[in-house]
Amino acid sequence: MKITFRLIVSLVLVAALVASVSSYLQVQNERNRLTNELDVRTVILGESLQESIKELLRAKSSTRLKRFVERFGDRDKLFGIAVYDSLGKLLMSNTKFLPDPPDSTTHVSESIIRGESIASYTTVNDKLVHTYSIPILVENKIVGALLLIHDASYIDARLNGIWENNFVRLLIQILLIIITTVLVVRWSITGPIAQIAKWMRGVRIGKTNQAVKLPRGDILKPLEDEVTLLAKSLSIARASAEEEARLRLQSDSLWTAERLKEHVRQEIADRNLIIVSNREPYMHVRQGNNIECVVPAGGLVTALDPILRACGGVWIAHGSGDADRETSDAKGKLLVPPEDPSYTLRRIFLTKEEEEGHYYGFSNEGIWPLCHITHTRPIFRLEDWISYQTVNQKFAKTLLDEIKNETEPLILIQDYHFALLPLLIKSKRPDARVALFWHIPWPNPEVFGICPWKQEILLGLLGADLVGFHIQFHCNNFLETVDRFLESKINWDQFNLEHKGSVTSVRPFPISIAFPNSVHDKTHQLIPKKTQREVVLKKIGFDVETIGVGVDRIDYTKGIVERIRAVERFFEKYPDFVGRFTFVELGAPSRTHIKRYHDLIAELEEIVDKINWRFQAKDWKPIVFLKAHHDHQQINLFYKASDICLVTSLHDGMNLVAKEFVGSRDDEDGILILSQFTGAARELQDALIVNPYSIEEMAEAIHTALVMQPKERTDRMQRMRAVLQERNVYRWAANIINALSRLRLPIAQDLQNPK
Ligand code: G6P
Repeated sequence: MKITFRLIVSLVLVAALVASVSSYLQVQNERNRLTNELDVRTVILGESLQESIKELLRAKSSTRLKRFVERFGDRDKLFGIAVYDSLGKLLMSNTKFLPDPPDSTTHVSESIIRGESIASYTTVNDKLVHTYSIPILVENKIVGALLLIHDASYIDARLNGIWENNFVRLLIQILLIIITTVLVVRWSITGPIAQIAKWMRGVRIGKTNQAVKLPRGDILKPLEDEVTLLAKSLSIARASAEEEARLRLQSDSLWTAERLKEHVRQEIADRNLIIVSNREPYMHVRQGNNIECVVPAGGLVTALDPILRACGGVWIAHGSGDADRETSDAKGKLLVPPEDPSYTLRRIFLTKEEEEGHYYGFSNEGIWPLCHITHTRPIFRLEDWISYQTVNQKFAKTLLDEIKNETEPLILIQDYHFALLPLLIKSKRPDARVALFWHIPWPNPEVFGICPWKQEILLGLLGADLVGFHIQFHCNNFLETVDRFLESKINWDQFNLEHKGSVTSVRPFPISIAFPNSVHDKTHQLIPKKTQREVVLKKIGFDVETIGVGVDRIDYTKGIVERIRAVERFFEKYPDFVGRFTFVELGAPSRTHIKRYHDLIAELEEIVDKINWRFQAKDWKPIVFLKAHHDHQQINLFYKASDICLVTSLHDGMNLVAKEFVGSRDDEDGILILSQFTGAARELQDALIVNPYSIEEMAEAIHTALVMQPKERTDRMQRMRAVLQERNVYRWAANIINALSRLRLPIAQDLQNPK
């Protein structure tokens, strides 16, 4: 109310000031105009009377003079006229209202003495009077004078009228100002503020989770986004706190972001945690004139981002986005995630040739197919191997710069892109604690043995204090491979190996997802299930009873072709489901620069087209292939709206899509069909486990899933969620950090002679 009052008072004062000044000027103008007009009129009248009076004075006829004065003195606004002799003595006068013209004698005498006309205004009996004397000249000699007295009170009346009109106008303006100000303030300020306050109260007491809407008044627009973010953070924090409390009650053995943060603080104290990977967690890409921040597809980012969000630290990765340089500082650094900066991303920029040889060539055409048993032949080229070494050295240089002021930093290197990095770091910084986690399978020694640079790769890896795999089977393969190709001592009982005086532990750490604290999951809990399904149906373009979903990078190891063949076989075997079931594949194009990947997309499009042509009816299609990058929130909607999820990798280290699907199903419904060749199959045994090479078996599994009783579906999902709850990514990180920080490093003098 105070603001309204202040606004009104200020506006009224300004309006009053403006009205007063403009009225004053208007009155001055009008006064000048009216007095000038009266002056002119009087002069004309005086001059017209002068000749006649001259005659009458010459004739000295007082009777004629009297008649003349009476005749002319009876005019409108003329109070009277008077005629004087040359000594200023009154000869004759006619005054209606003013019997004694005011100081007329002096006025007339002065006019006679100066020999010129004199005009003046005076107030007589509260009336404004205009007095005008003219000397009467006969042959240049003054013979008398004429006095004209006009009523000028109409000038005052007119001027008072102006003041009154303007005052009334000002009053009307003030009234309009008050009404308008009250309405505008209500409509655009106090209304939206009251609305936002009501909404914030709702958020504070947990009654609403909706985004704030300000239907009118853009004055609060800048606040809107900030307030919405604040509310979102509040609701996430509240949900996490509730979850936290619930989990604490349930069991102390459960890991959460908060617990990991606390644990890491105690475990590594003030040492820094540094993650290195090829793929960056946040990539800036150009979309027309805009720059967008994208979270790349793939399990590595899904798993590691929540850890650094919880613990802080530095993530060093290849800056591969086309707008990455301009969105980071001179050292390639920036704070991420953009909406809630919690850790530093340090980007390393590679040349086209380096990327070509290191990423596309040696990593993805060499090691990737070497480690995945999918019958795609690895290609090893010398130039790729050279680039692989160069890029590992480049990363080592940046990493060493990052840790130059740290003692005993903890370094977590990710994946097959950096097999040489552990040794490059340890040889320069033996005090660093280095772990390398290999996210993909490790093959048996015969398969690995075909790599022309197998020894160099193994030596590079043995630089690490700890090497991790998803499952024990891959650890065993690795130990056997080292045993086969290097002079070393394997301690099978302790799962470590000694090589040239240094020890490397080899352990399984089954990676997982941020469950149940996933931010994406939390935001989706706010959308009703019915709406989630409607959004998904809108996206696929038609209505259907049941949906199956597959989410992959388009990669030959994921068994997407086999899965689609299984869907075809399912419709052949169970034609009842034609028109009632649709399989949706969310396929993110990946590594398309490599021919095998490029061809795979074309192959998939062709098969999907053939099957759709064969079975489609009206609007319905058996398969919808959405070939695009989908963000976590969109993928979550599909997980939640689907009846089954198909993960049919031909070979996969873990596969986090399987875990994400289970994690997203807080309705405890939905069936997971899971390849036996994934790491995830060892933990999620309540999925329908299939052999992806058996089309028949997969088609049957789809049918089994679709006819499964709700009770069994729920039982299976509950059990899988319990596994996830216990073995989430926070536990994974805690285990790997514990293992690394508790390893016994060689004592100080040994550190002088590094590996
Ligand atoms: C797998 C690898 C990761 C990789 C991800 C995405 O999960 O283990 O290291 O980041 O695929 O592949 P991309 O080639 O796009 O990084």
